Order: sequence, then C-alpha cells, then structure tokens
Amino acid sequence: MNEQYLEPLKAHPEGRALRAEVDLGRIARNLKRIQTASGGRGVWGVVKANAYGHGSVPVGRALASAGAHGLAVSSLEEGLELRQGGIECPILVLGGLRPEALPVASAEGLTVTMVGPEHLAEYAQALPDHPLRLHLKLDTGMGRFGFLPSELGECLPGLRRLAPWIEGVMGHFATADDPDLGFAHRQRRIFETCLAQLADAGIRPGQSHHGNSDACFRGLLETDTHLRPGLALFGLTTIPEGRAIGLEPALALVAEVARVKIVPSGTTVGYGRTFVAPQPMQIATLACGYADGYRRDLGNRGVVGFAGRTFPVVGRVSMDYLAVALPLGFPVSPGDPMTLFSPDPDAPHSVERLAQTLGTIPYELVCALHRRITRRYFP
Ligand SMILES: Cc1ncc(COP(=O)(O)O)c(C=O)c1O
Repeated sequence: MNEQYLEPLKAHPEGRALRAEVDLGRIARNLKRIQTASGGRGVWGVVKANAYGHGSVPVGRALASAGAHGLAVSSLEEGLELRQGGIECPILVLGGLRPEALPVASAEGLTVTMVGPEHLAEYAQALPDHPLRLHLKLDTGMGRFGFLPSELGECLPGLRRLAPWIEGVMGHFATADDPDLGFAHRQRRIFETCLAQLADAGIRPGQSHHGNSDACFRGLLETDTHLRPGLALFGLTTIPEGRAIGLEPALALVAEVARVKIVPSGTTVGYGRTFVAPQPMQIATLACGYADGYRRDLGNRGVVGFAGRTFPVVGRVSMDYLAVALPLGFPVSPGDPMTLFSPDPDAPHSVERLAQTLGTIPYELVCALHRRITRRYFP
C-alpha cells in the first residue's frame, strides 16, 4: 500500500475525520487480472451501490480509462450520476426500466436491461423515437429478474421487433461461489439453450454474459463474450480462487482519534455498559459509528490497526463514535490515524476477515460505507 496511507491525517475543521482511502491503481490492476483470468473477454465493471462504497464516479473513470468495456449500475439514477460525472463509456442499467424512463435513458446513451416480457409492446413503440441498446435478461435460475425459458417462445415475435436494438443477452449465476457447481452448470446449459432458441428466431446479439467475479475464477464463462465482475475489481473475494490471482483490496477506512482518556479499572464504556475496564487503560474515541456503515455488532468483537498492532473495539459502537482500548503508556494522541478496514487481506481487520467475524459477506460491509465519509483517491 502506498506510503501516503501512513501519514497522519490533517486535522479536520469540524474535529471529525473519517476517510475511505481508495487506491485507484489497485482497481486498475485488479481489472487487468480479471481480464487475464477471463481470457480477454470484455468487462462490464459493476459499480452499482456507489461502486460498492468506493465512489462510483472516480472508480468508473478509473475503470473506463483502464480498459473496461463499460460500467454496470442498478438504476437509472446511478447511470445518470456517472454521466453527470463526465463518463462517456457504455453504461448498462441492470435493474430494468419502466417505459416512461426510456426517453431519458436514450438521451443519456444508457444501455438498458429488459428484465421480463411485461413491457415488450411499449418498448417496441418507444425505441424508434428513443433508440438505445438493449440487453435481454434471462432467468436461468436466479429467480428474480429475467425472461423465464418457459415464456421465451411466446415472446419471440415481440423480441423480433426489438431485435435491431438488442445488443446482448445475459443471465446471472445464483451459486458461482458454491464449491458444488452443479446448479451453476445447469444454469449455463439453460442459458445456451435459450441462446440457440433466440438464434433460431433470427435474434443473434453480439454479446452474451452470465458471469460475475466468482464465475470468472471458477471457469464458468464458456461461450460468453463478456463478464460482469464487481467485488473482485475492489480486490475482495469470498473464494480461494479469487485470492490466488493476487487481487489487491483497494480501500482502507481510516479514522483519526478524536479523544484519548485514561480510565481506572471498573470504568464502563458506551451504551449499555457492555465493556468494563479490567484494569487502568487508555480509551481512544474515534469519529466513526454505525451511521457511517461501521457495523454495530463489531462492538466488543472488532479490532482496529494502529502503529503496527491491533487493538480491540470496546463497548457498543454508537451512531457516530466507537471506542478503542489501549494499554497505559502506549503512545497515542488526538489526530492519530487508526485503520478500521485494512487493505491487507490477511489482517484481522480486513473487510473479508471482519465479514467472517460477523457471519456476513464483504459486499455488505463496503456497500454500507456512507456517503458522508470523506473519500480520498490515490492514482
Ligand atoms: C446482475 C449482476 N451482475 C453482476 C454482479 C457482480 O457480482 P460480483 O460482485 O459478485 O462480481 C452483480 C452483483 O450483485 C449483479 O447483481
């Protein structure tokens, strides 16, 4: 990690400093690793949910200039945010759009996912006046968005009318992270059968993509021309194959110490008095709480990094603050930076390890990082 991360943070004018330090160089290198692992397929970089908390416009720009084919977001609003940020590459809206939104999407050059048969007629009516590229979503087993294979046949006439605008066909794996890939292979077979059915009807789009990060690392891309990784771009993974390709976590969450106090044995810390100091110690208060996305259930469970060591988060995490216990005499002062999420994947306070501690997935921890956190970007 860049030396700059080790510099003390500048005093914040409001006495509160909490920063997500995002290394865009790492994101660009992760993209290259994914491109290599995918055999050079085109990458739709998934930057929904504010680029998994990393900041969608700076991350989107970095991915576009590092060679991503395009960016994928969940909603019209997220697509417009990227366009307002000056991003010109293709942007795929994954969540589908009601027909009323097509004129705006067309004007902004967004690519739209058709998530089911419900608006076929309205789309066919709107597109001649408001042209845009469509990707057809198939429900091969995820069970949420997508045309079901069973309804594809009856939809073919409507889809044929839309054929000039259909650029891609897509699906989504439900179990690409599961050691048992039986269901994933079944989804793949269903996808291929649907592609053949579309081709027989004269619908042969140039792109097909069914895979996320894990599908790429697990060899599930097969005939796909493109893939849609999200988590791996940020250097995070839940499977050993992802770690094996050397992904670099791109985000460090750093808070400066707001106050330090020495407390006698028996002092309780925080709401509910869930921590009782077993001996005299120092309590450092950090300006980071659950409103920032730091999980409340890390109280008395999480650790933070400081001066090459880790120290426990004690007491309940409150809305804006949390407390860290340090031994008496350990040098610590207001303004010192402590690391809440470490970019070292093996550190006990890495996003992956904290997610394991909580019984959740890394996605949830980074996506929760609130927009009020200052984001600093490193090239
Ligand atoms: C439709 C779709 N494609 C791709 C992705 C990216 O998945 P991952 O972050 O696991 O690579 C997501 C993530 O939720 C998704 O919903």
